[in-house]
Amino acid sequence: MFTTALQPQTQTTKLPHDLIEAIQALKQEMNAVILAHYYQDPDIQDVADYLGDSLGLSQQAASTDADVIVFAGVHFMAETAKILNPDKLVLLPDLDAGCSLADSCPPDAFAAFKAAHPHHLVISYINCTAEIKAMSDIICTSSNAVQIVRQLPQDQPIIFAPDRNLGRYVMAQTGRDLVLWQGSCIVHETFSERKMIQLKIQHPTAEIIAHPECEPAILRHANYIGSTTALLKYCQQSTSQSFIVATEPGIIHQMQKQATDKQFIPAPPTNSCNCNECPYMRLNTLEKLYLAMKHRAPEIILPEATRIAALQPIQRMLAMSV
Ligand code: 13P
Ligand code: SF4
Repeated sequence: MFTTALQPQTQTTKLPHDLIEAIQALKQEMNAVILAHYYQDPDIQDVADYLGDSLGLSQQAASTDADVIVFAGVHFMAETAKILNPDKLVLLPDLDAGCSLADSCPPDAFAAFKAAHPHHLVISYINCTAEIKAMSDIICTSSNAVQIVRQLPQDQPIIFAPDRNLGRYVMAQTGRDLVLWQGSCIVHETFSERKMIQLKIQHPTAEIIAHPECEPAILRHANYIGSTTALLKYCQQSTSQSFIVATEPGIIHQMQKQATDKQFIPAPPTNSCNCNECPYMRLNTLEKLYLAMKHRAPEIILPEATRIAALQPIQRMLAMSV
């Protein structure tokens, strides 16, 4: 791992009685913005200045005039914010908030894979490390992957990394043949097709909505497939009263807030566990968020050469997403 950071003095800090009030005060004092992903705990979602999917969060990071970005999400998201904002302080409440998908694509192995396909353009899903971004031509997210591939010439050979499920979904949507890196997300691969069908029998009028990181066996039952923001919008607009939600259940907090009269049922995992909750996203807590702001750490720090190499493919994505 090439990113380093200072660890806060969490042991010695006495937590304030009203954490939310203390976070708001620190935000003013530091001229900070809190960006949060929908998979965060509800109390973090409620304290955020901006809540969004990976694309929305990158767009916010690219345009903010705050001096400090407090990123309530996972490492690759905070890293993307730092790539876009080398002169700002970017804080991540828990540095161990990684991502199984990013981990499934080690830089050395990916460099060899890329070298074996010298004529291919590399499109990488934003859920990857800065080193993988630096080896890519264009970054994409789950909300613009199809749109970006459609903008490229038909005869352009393409590597798509690291998520094979999103890659297969893009192939099906565009009719293009992509060379896929075989990575996946532990959360989105945990849903049980059998249990989901049982749930649908119990709730026959419920619509199944799914994130494209899910396996094809889940996606084939879905009435709607989209990024977290797209799923949220779909639930608001649909006339259906209930939904079986095949993505990380943190998003149900927003779904419920935006459609109080509708029912949202989390898609069940294969085991009797909470494996549909992202163990990385859930490492962040309101307490850690407060401590990160108080101590101005842990901070995301990147080698400048990697940052510069990773910047261009992100900027290409932003330009192709308008
Ligand atoms: P989106 O934010 O693009 O919907 O992706 C979900 C995800 O898994 C983030 O890690
Ligand atoms: Fe990574 Fe999956 Fe967690 Fe998203 S849900 S951060 S892809 S492990």
